[in-house]
Amino acid sequence: MNGIFYFSGTGNSLWLAKKVKESLGGEIRYIPNRNSDISAYDKLIIVCPVYSFGLPLPVFDFMKELNSDAPLWIVMNYGGAAGKAASFAYNHAKSCGLNIKNVYTMKMPENFTAVFSTPLIKPYNKGLLKKAPKAIGKIIASIERNEEKAFPSDSPEKHKLYNENKSNWGKMGERFSTSSACTLCGKCVNNCPAENIAIKDGKVIFGNNCVVCQACYHRCPSKAVQYLGKPNKMPYFNPNVPEKEMGTDIVS
Ligand SMILES: Cc1cc2nc3c(=O)[nH]c(=O)nc-3n(C[C@H](O)[C@H](O)[C@H](O)COP(=O)(O)O)c2cc1C
Repeated sequence: MNGIFYFSGTGNSLWLAKKVKESLGGEIRYIPNRNSDISAYDKLIIVCPVYSFGLPLPVFDFMKELNSDAPLWIVMNYGGAAGKAASFAYNHAKSCGLNIKNVYTMKMPENFTAVFSTPLIKPYNKGLLKKAPKAIGKIIASIERNEEKAFPSDSPEKHKLYNENKSNWGKMGERFSTSSACTLCGKCVNNCPAENIAIKDGKVIFGNNCVVCQACYHRCPSKAVQYLGKPNKMPYFNPNVPEKEMGTDIVS
């Protein structure tokens, strides 16, 4: 059976994971839940976003703990440019002793808009979402054919940005805050995969263990979560996936 492991802040990777399951079958597991028996799977597929031309921290760490010799495929999605993300992921998998077969990258709507102002315009995203089924379809067909591709390792210099950013992500949590629109509904607390958000004395507190997934920022029902005090005018969540499925395992 296929084990499809995803990490996602704004639904793009969950949507892709569901497409993989639809075509190839298997069980979908949310990586931060850490509740599956890996030995139940004979093929592993990780689906996640590109972060700083590399891997999100929860995925990076999951791969270090993933003690399995089952063949592994990685499907990454990015908002602007993937850079060396595929070779980074491939070689990280190798260094973790995993049986990595291939890594794919494809474009989806950008969600790092708290930091970078990108063309988060509705028609642009609509176009990307329209092309996405074809792009993931090609990747699924390649996985189905068990296609393999080796990525030579890069010099550490090529991944300097990733390593620098990765060590700063935790602290970025403290740059988030809530505006007066906050109703203390607790959704940001529940959606945070790093347990980095709490409500204390009637205030939302952001800690320094952030994994920068943007779930709190984009999925606040009152648009109250801000980055560096700047309001979030255009929250994004993949419109083709039910938000209530985020963070869940889909096994049936
Ligand atoms: C911390 C962070 C870093 C990112 N780095 C990159 C990057 O290096 N290149 C890129 O094209 N997109 C980058 N993105 C955008 C995401 O990869 C992209 O929007 C992805 O589709 C989000 O997937 P999700 O909805 O499953 O969370 C980054 C997003 C975040 C939150």
